[in-house]
Amino acid sequence: MALVIALMAATAPPVEAQAAEGVTQFNRACGRCHPHGDEDTGPDIHGKNLSVEAMTKVIRQGTNKMRAITPTKLTDADLEHVIAYLRTLRAVR
Ligand code: HEC
Repeated sequence: MALVIALMAATAPPVEAQAAEGVTQFNRACGRCHPHGDEDTGPDIHGKNLSVEAMTKVIRQGTNKMRAITPTKLTDADLEHVIAYLRTLRAVR
């Protein structure tokens, strides 16, 4: 039993690690305009519940008021990390 649990832990995708990296990237690329931690800035995206596709579109193409965030500013790998973090905020489903 303990072995099974240990094996599961070893093979599970490192979601927590991705989300942790995502916090760093979010604070860098999004945090000056969106609330995080105790700071109260811009539109709150907690609970937005967007699909991964919709969130990726907002980030890469921007909206009326939000400028697109290009791969130069946030690489595809870091975008994935941000999305893992946004899941913990229920901004992405
Ligand atoms: C320069 C400021 C700025 C930055 C940086 C920024 N945003 Fe935004 N964001 C905004 C503003 C302003 C809005 C409101 C846009 C609107 O209503 O059209 C918004 C809206 C959004 C929305 C809501 C879109 C919707 O459908 O209502 C999401 C989700 C979002 N941002 C995610 C992010 C993520 C993730 C990042 C980082 C990768 C980010 N934003 C970086 C300013 C910013």
